[in-house]
Amino acid sequence: MELCSINGLKGTITVPGDKSISHRSIMFGSIAKGITEVENFLKGADCRATIQCFRTLGIEIEESKSSVLIHGKGLHGLMPPTHILDVGNSGTTTRLLSGILAGQPFDSKLSGDASLNARPMKRIIEPLTQMGANISSILRNDCAPLYITPGNLHGIHYNSPVASAQVKSCILLAGLYADSETSVTEPSLSRNHTELMLKEFGADIRSTHALSSTQATASILPCTELYGQHILVPGDISSAAYFIAAGLLVPDSEILIQNVGINPTRAGLLKVCEDMGGDITLLNERTQAGEPIADILVRTSTLHSTTIEGDIIPALIDEIPVIAVMAAAAEGTTIIRDAAELKVKESDRIETVTDNLLSMGCNVTATEDGMIIRGGCPLKGAVIHTLFDHRIAMAFSIAALIADGNTKILDSKCIDISYPEFYDTFEKLL
Ligand code: S3P
Repeated sequence: MELCSINGLKGTITVPGDKSISHRSIMFGSIAKGITEVENFLKGADCRATIQCFRTLGIEIEESKSSVLIHGKGLHGLMPPTHILDVGNSGTTTRLLSGILAGQPFDSKLSGDASLNARPMKRIIEPLTQMGANISSILRNDCAPLYITPGNLHGIHYNSPVASAQVKSCILLAGLYADSETSVTEPSLSRNHTELMLKEFGADIRSTHALSSTQATASILPCTELYGQHILVPGDISSAAYFIAAGLLVPDSEILIQNVGINPTRAGLLKVCEDMGGDITLLNERTQAGEPIADILVRTSTLHSTTIEGDIIPALIDEIPVIAVMAAAAEGTTIIRDAAELKVKESDRIETVTDNLLSMGCNVTATEDGMIIRGGCPLKGAVIHTLFDHRIAMAFSIAALIADGNTKILDSKCIDISYPEFYDTFEKLL
């Protein structure tokens, strides 16, 4: 994709359904009894991988233009897979599905693409093994492909070294099949869609937040049955993020993004925009199936630098590439720290973000757990190496809109992972 600078993005848009909630709707719907109907499901490649895995596990899933119908077979209704489960590029599919498979009375193997098979799985192998699961890395490198055979699961309390919703959710899902309570404490609260949604499906699940620290604990009791639900998926704030950044950065813009999920465990970007002086207004705030949503009005703003660190990081981890682009255009030096998790995403995002910003003429330094971005230098067009990372492709498409000259985004097709209509939505604002 080739892009150049523009002026005046104007209009009202919606963004596709939330990726995290879409994945969970298929998974929980499949192990619930009865039909789960999902509206505004995200039809990106990652969520399609989840659908395919559950079809391979014997679940009938019907897709229409407006919704997805899952014919759930209950907690013990999955069938042994006839072939290896293909998780594609999706870390969420891999880690959450592993938690469910650990509780099944059959063998399974799962594997993904080159990026997925290089991501760390010890973070789930360790707690699942403590629970009595039989899960191993087939190549003995603590990565997928993974092999899971039946085990008798017992409840544990797990102190997770990372604030990761994927790790937390994996353990809680295995906890559905354990013999006693399972709980997970994480250093700061990561996205809590699993806790909110499993409760709606009928699980006995609780969350507590320590008063004296940022630690958060979620606990689940073994369950006899979950029940199918109707789910209306809110717009994904991680997809809205690109249009929020575009609205702030592109001169003479005003964009209204409707129906965006603003769950506080996901909405760190809004706080950062406010700290940077962004003109953002939340309209029509409401709650839909336990998830807060709003329409977000964004207008062109003069941004200044900020420091992003500590327990806000899990609430904006996927938005850091586009925040880095905003910081490059802002006056002053922005510091991002406590974000070492960026290194184990679809690419090493500390490296991919800083390398691409450097090639656009930004003065940026990579650090062990983040980056230092000295903003305010005009960006120039460049060739962007996405390393097939969808969020890098989208973040640098926004940088291209304010850069001098043409920018070429290599392998931009990877955007299909989470936002197949990304460039079409842009056209609506021209
Ligand atoms: C996700 C959790 C996050 C996020 C990912 C989706 C989820 O990963 O980066 O895109 O749906 O649970 P971690 O929880 O591992 O940080």
